[in-house]
Amino acid sequence: MSARGSRSRSWVNPSFHVTMTHKNARTEPSVDRVCPSPSQSEIRLQSMKNRRVIVEHYGGPEVLHLVEEDLPSPGPRQARVKVLAADISFSDVNVRRGRYPGGPRPPLTPGYAIVGVVDLLGSGAAGPAPGQAVAALTFYGGYSQYIVVNAEALVPIDKQVDPAETVCLVLGYMAAIQMLRRVAQVASGARILVHGAAGGVGTAFLELGRIHGLQVFGTASKSKHGLVMRLGATPIDYKTQDFVRRTLQLTKGTGVDAAFDPIGASHLQQTERAVRRGGTVVGYGFYEASNRGANVALDVVSQYLRMALWSLPPLRKHTAFYDIRATHKRHPGWFREDLTSLVDLLAAGRLQPVIAARIALDDVVKAHQMLERAEVQGKLILIPN
Ligand SMILES: NC(=O)c1ccc[n+]([C@@H]2O[C@H](COP(=O)([O-])OP(=O)(O)OC[C@H]3O[C@@H](n4cnc5c(N)ncnc54)[C@H](OP(=O)(O)O)[C@@H]3O)[C@@H](O)[C@H]2O)c1
Repeated sequence: MSARGSRSRSWVNPSFHVTMTHKNARTEPSVDRVCPSPSQSEIRLQSMKNRRVIVEHYGGPEVLHLVEEDLPSPGPRQARVKVLAADISFSDVNVRRGRYPGGPRPPLTPGYAIVGVVDLLGSGAAGPAPGQAVAALTFYGGYSQYIVVNAEALVPIDKQVDPAETVCLVLGYMAAIQMLRRVAQVASGARILVHGAAGGVGTAFLELGRIHGLQVFGTASKSKHGLVMRLGATPIDYKTQDFVRRTLQLTKGTGVDAAFDPIGASHLQQTERAVRRGGTVVGYGFYEASNRGANVALDVVSQYLRMALWSLPPLRKHTAFYDIRATHKRHPGWFREDLTSLVDLLAAGRLQPVIAARIALDDVVKAHQMLERAEVQGKLILIPN
């Protein structure tokens, strides 16, 4: 059912409760009566300003700071979206550090993915109508109360789902499902190795792996093994064990059918050894190089070169470097299709994204510190409004 056709929708989570009324498609989202209702003049004042995070020069978490400014206006074919939930991910850490090949230059606002409500359309915008719940892969800009995006980039969300849980699907689950199904094409019953298994993308792999009947081995620090097991995977403590040896033990010497590696550098070379002959190695990050302060572009190039060698005899492995930006650009239809099926799974209760905390705009520095210290199990989600 489209939002235009529906009468009302309630998105509920512990930190806020917003009811959207769609009798008139141009009606503003209204705060539900369970919350104290601000006066009309307060609403007008609030609606004229926008708070967002900016980075004026690359650096550590302390370079993230808040500004208050006039509401941005959508230009031709653009839409302004009130952000209800924004993804906080390690990709944003890379953007903030200036270690993201092809990333934006400061001043910039991080924020790779959002879920919100269309607030205003620019001239000629053919996207969803005001009042419609939407999701978008923004790449940058999500850490904001309002964001202006190309209207055609918005994907309508027509289910009653929590915005914080939904935004987990837009980056992490999207990356995981596309690597599993479109890149590695793993079949039900396959054995896979997932690195960073308790992280944002890692937990998405684990949940999707369980749904698709995969046998999943996941590397994580010991303190996170409870979560990895709860999500149906076999944990490997990569800090005290040789993960290649352990994976080979667990697969009776064969190796896994596919492995997914966001760590990069020399780690990817080890990962290749844990994959069976003819199996698939997917690289999708440069976590180690970024943390070391090394040249991440060089790291990606070296991953491509190594993977090219592994695809030759005698190893004949299938290899790929997955990049959600490039995939989204090349196959926008896949993004809509995959997001729609993920939202269906969420609405049916078959996915339960692991949300470690819902974060206010004022706490964004702390959120990045936690990510950098690998203190997060699952996802941190920003609730800007
Ligand atoms: N290519 C793409 O399109 C794409 C899309 C999304 C994300 N990414 C990349 O994917 C990576 C993960 O992102 P995320 O948001 O999921 O990060 P995250 O939530 O911070 O999770 C990463 C986790 O990896 C674990 N880890 C660190 N070193 C490890 C190692 N050597 N072996 C195994 N686990 C290790 C850490 O936990 P413990 O060490 O405590 O277990 C850390 O919490 C980032 O590099 C990001 O840029 C790429």
